[in-house]
Amino acid sequence: MTYCELSQIPLSTVASGPSGSVLKKLLTLSADADIISFAVGLPSPDGFPVQAVAQAAQEVLKKEGRRALQYSVTEGEPELREAVAEFETSRGTPTRPEEVQIVTGSQQALDLVARVFVDPGDRVLVENPSYLGALGAFKLCRPTFEFLPSDDEGLNPEAMTEACRGAKFAYIMPTFNNPTGLTISLERRKRLIEKADELGLWIIEDDPYGELWYEKKPPQTIRSLKPDNTLRLGTLSKILSPGMRLGYICGNPALLDAIAELKQSVDMHTPTLTQLVAAQLLKSGQIEEHLPRVRKIYRERGTCMLECLEKYMPKDSGISWTKVEGGMFIWVTLPESIDTTAMMSEAVAAKVSYVPGEACYAFGDDHRHMRMSFVTVPEERIDLGIKTLAELIKRHL
Ligand SMILES: Cc1ncc(COP(=O)(O)O)c(C=O)c1O
Repeated sequence: MTYCELSQIPLSTVASGPSGSVLKKLLTLSADADIISFAVGLPSPDGFPVQAVAQAAQEVLKKEGRRALQYSVTEGEPELREAVAEFETSRGTPTRPEEVQIVTGSQQALDLVARVFVDPGDRVLVENPSYLGALGAFKLCRPTFEFLPSDDEGLNPEAMTEACRGAKFAYIMPTFNNPTGLTISLERRKRLIEKADELGLWIIEDDPYGELWYEKKPPQTIRSLKPDNTLRLGTLSKILSPGMRLGYICGNPALLDAIAELKQSVDMHTPTLTQLVAAQLLKSGQIEEHLPRVRKIYRERGTCMLECLEKYMPKDSGISWTKVEGGMFIWVTLPESIDTTAMMSEAVAAKVSYVPGEACYAFGDDHRHMRMSFVTVPEERIDLGIKTLAELIKRHL
């Protein structure tokens, strides 16, 4: 069988536009099992509650198997909407079940949020750098991206000006940001809300990592401070399992109805079986027993990477990194003279990989950063990987 060339297929503008192929190629390169990969941002399977999921699935199928295997409603199973509302409320963000839309991973939330707000050419504000999966999802609606000002404490609301007015929304990740690892302080959150009100901006708060704190809980969520004109995106991917593909959007029920209508055309509903299994795990309180175990794994590996960076990176050479207090990523800044995209092939040859910072920027050619993910790498491999990278960087200085 011979296939025709892609160029001969009548693709849409979006499908034939520039792709994120640099990253795809680099990640393919680093898929080799011998490579110590700080590139892949997967949660640690050591933190998956396999037994508890097996037991809950069995119970769900035994008790209500016919329902669990049937089509469901688009807004989500009532039990899971309730459980999510309770979970959010217990964490300080008062939420009612009708303010919850269940989605197929928060990646789907990003897609639906863009579809519900954005027409081609509309302005969308994003942090720079930002989550590259969000930039990809938003791009499908062909917005014009503009960036929110930030500094080494993350987004800086004081620097938000009139120029932001008229944008459809501001997409922000205030807690344990991907890729920077930074958390915006409570003062900045409050000021951000004042600014958003002043400028008439909707805020999309994406918070997949907030539960993964190491020692200290993060500040209050944006939605708890500003329930109006905020959509809060959450996910069970990092606290339970990404394979279950369960996320949620919390916000104004009228807007959620509009989102549910779009979702119906996209995938009808999120799988019934996984929703019921997750509802059981949340409602039974098993998630509360499980979370400290996940936090411990992340804290140990995050601390290990911080210590290794301190131990091996050359001193007084303009290299810095975020001192993360939760989440999955450390953002390393190198001197201007080093191009982390170009250096990647040498890193792979030395059997270590990272995400070149360039992949996380919607604007500008920033080549001096690396996103380092530590949670799937055992501690002795973190040590070897950072040592190898530090040697490579020393050769480039
Ligand atoms: C910031 C952010 N938002 C959303 C997602 C999507 O997660 P999921 O679709 O698994 O819920 C991710 C995944 O890594 C992420 O880092």
